[in-house]
Amino acid sequence: MIGGVTLAVLTLVAACSDQSPSTLRPGGPGARRIESLWWVLFWCSVAVCVIVFVGVALVIARRRRRGDVSQRNPLTFVVIAGAVIPFVVLAAVYGLNLRDMLALSRPENAAESQTPLTVEVIGHQWWWEFRYPPGTGVVTANELHIPAGTDVKLILRTDDVLHSFWVPQLMPKTDLIAGQTNTMWLRADQSGHYRGQCAEYCGMQHAHMAFMVVAEPRAQFDAWLKWAGSPARAQTPAQQRGQQVFAQMGCAACHTIRGTDADGTVAPDLTTIGDRWSLGAGTLANDPEHMREWIADPQQSKPGNAMPPQSVPATGMDDLIAYLRSLRQPEKEGAS
Ligand code: CUA
Repeated sequence: MIGGVTLAVLTLVAACSDQSPSTLRPGGPGARRIESLWWVLFWCSVAVCVIVFVGVALVIARRRRRGDVSQRNPLTFVVIAGAVIPFVVLAAVYGLNLRDMLALSRPENAAESQTPLTVEVIGHQWWWEFRYPPGTGVVTANELHIPAGTDVKLILRTDDVLHSFWVPQLMPKTDLIAGQTNTMWLRADQSGHYRGQCAEYCGMQHAHMAFMVVAEPRAQFDAWLKWAGSPARAQTPAQQRGQQVFAQMGCAACHTIRGTDADGTVAPDLTTIGDRWSLGAGTLANDPEHMREWIADPQQSKPGNAMPPQSVPATGMDDLIAYLRSLRQPEKEGAS
C-alpha cells in the first residue's frame, strides 16, 4: 500500500515537472489515449483500495465490539468479492486495452496518411539511426525531425540486440526485435521537442540510448529535410583544415558526412552534427567543450561504446571542432 501510494505520488510529481517526458503530459493522440487508460486504471485502483480498507476496518471494529465475527455465508462473499467482481473489472480493463491497441496500430487520420512520410528506425548499441526516404538522402542519429500535426510511419528494426523505441509524450513503446520489422505511427500535435528513450535493457549503456523528436511546422521541416540531404561544405580556412583532420584521423572509415569522402556506415552519420541536441545519444551536451572531451576520450563519458579515443594535436582539435560545429543549418549558425 505504502509502495503504491509512493509510486502514485512520484508519478504525479514527475508529471508536474516541465522537463519530464511524462505520459501524463501528452503531446499527441497516441499518448492521450494512454493517459486516459492510465487514469481509468488509477481510479479503479483507488476505488478497490478504499473498498478493501473500509471493509477491513469494519471487520476489526466489529470484532473489537463483539469479541468475534459471525459470517452469515462466507462462501458467497468469497465468490462475489474474490472472483465475480475482479473478473468483471479485469474484463472491462482488457476490453479498453484491446480498443486502444487497435486504435494505436492505425494512423490518426487514415485519409491524410495515404502517402505518409516513412522513416526507418534502426537500433544500435547504443544509438539510434533514422533513415529518411531514399530520395531525400537524409540519415540522422539520435534526433528525429518530423512535421507537426502529421502522421509519420516508422519502420523499426535492430542491428544487434533488443531495443525499445519510446517517446512517452507521443506514443507507447514499440520493441525493435532481431529478425523482425515492426511498424508504428507517430504524431505530435504541436511543434516542440519530445525526449525519447530506449526502454528495453540492451547492455551497459542502455541508459545512454536517448533521442529527441523535433516536431516542426511543415515548411520548417521541409527546409530542414532539404538542408540535411545536401552536401556539407567547409567554408572558412579553419573548417577546411578541420575537414582534413577528420579525413586524416580515419574518422571517415566509420562516419559519413555527405558531400565529402567520409562515407563510413558503422557509426552515426555526422552531416547534421552541429545541430544536434546532444553527443553520445544523450550522454553530453552538444557544445565545443563537450565535443572536445568526447573526441579525445569517448570511453570516459560512455564506457563500452564503439568509438576509440583519438589523440588529436591541440590546433588540429580546434579546427576539427570548428568544422563539426559548422555542420548546421545556415540560419541556425551563431545560435546557442
Ligand atoms: Cu537500447 Cu536499451
